[in-house]
Amino acid sequence: QQQEKAALLKAYDFAAKLYHYILGNTEQGKVAKGYLASRGISDKLIDTFQIGYAPAMWDTLVQQLVKREFDLSLMEKGGLISAKHEGTGYVDKFRERIMFPICDAAGKVIAFGGRSMGDAQPKYLNSPESALFNKSRTMYNLHLARPNMRKLQQAVLFEGYVDVIKAWEAGISNGVATMGTALTKEHAALLNRNADQIVVCYDGDNAGQSAAFKSIPILEETGSRVTVAMLPDGKDPDDYVKQYGFDRFVREIIEPAVPSMKYKLLYIRKNFKLHEDGDRLRYLQSAVKLISELHSPMEREHYLKQLASEFPDSSYEAMKLDLHEILLQS
Ligand code: CTP
Ligand code: MN
Ligand code: MN
Ligand code: MN
Ligand code: MN
Repeated sequence: QQQEKAALLKAYDFAAKLYHYILGNTEQGKVAKGYLASRGISDKLIDTFQIGYAPAMWDTLVQQLVKREFDLSLMEKGGLISAKHEGTGYVDKFRERIMFPICDAAGKVIAFGGRSMGDAQPKYLNSPESALFNKSRTMYNLHLARPNMRKLQQAVLFEGYVDVIKAWEAGISNGVATMGTALTKEHAALLNRNADQIVVCYDGDNAGQSAAFKSIPILEETGSRVTVAMLPDGKDPDDYVKQYGFDRFVREIIEPAVPSMKYKLLYIRKNFKLHEDGDRLRYLQSAVKLISELHSPMEREHYLKQLASEFPDSSYEAMKLDLHEILLQS
């Protein structure tokens, strides 16, 4: 078991170096470099994140693993290569993809995210879970972000690899991402061990905003304070940087991140037609319900007052009564 892990670590390290070399030094790598350049990913970023390229061939990695006498059935279990459908032998798992190495907390490569450059599906092919790689405990870029998270006592949580990379270039050195899966309790605990404030910066589409909403209780459960950075409709951090530049991303998106309660109120608001009496009342009731879930009476008062001043036809006193009723029932 330990031996298998050690062999897999060695293979992942080797594969990452091979793919990185191919990207930087071969004819096939040039197209991939062009793709990365078109996405605003410079040579410096390619080096920092050890980005690579798996060429459009069946056995680039298999050949090298054979030459170095790696145990191929173990490499298959570890998700680097696949058994051929027909006959015997193996083929590379990742072909014609930009390779993003995924590291453990110590910076050792334990998996890959591989992005297709064209329309090939899936857009991202990720390593399967293995003796090394547990998705619900791994976060992209944790090894580089962790010292900065500790220093700043803040972490920024993104959806995608490229978002983390672009944010890094914008000076956000404490950014991490989950591995294309929902945020788990383990992720939340991991973040809380390193920082007490978390900025959630998910994509500005429905999927991203709903994921942000759901991440709040998971993060707060571990004791973290949560704010949410909001992106315009349909844009993700990478899109925003591309359109408006690094400085504006930091100033207009990251810095104005709002407290989780404010985000929740804005999020549920979209389901109501506020200019219609019935809907407005139903929104106020849902909002008071959310506010009632705050632990601190002072915070409850703060948001209730805000709500009352925003909707003058319902009085603060009435809202307070509603809130007390909810608190009594729970
Ligand atoms: N993801 C995945 N498999 C997919 C699509 C997405 O694993 N088929 C994961 C990846 O980690 C990706 C993240 O979910 O980075 C967010 O998905 P999405 O927003 O669709 O991708 P982007 O990160 O925006 O990718 P890109 O900018 O390269 O298009
Ligand atoms: Mn290099
Ligand atoms: Mn997305
Ligand atoms: Mn995205
Ligand atoms: Mn994107």
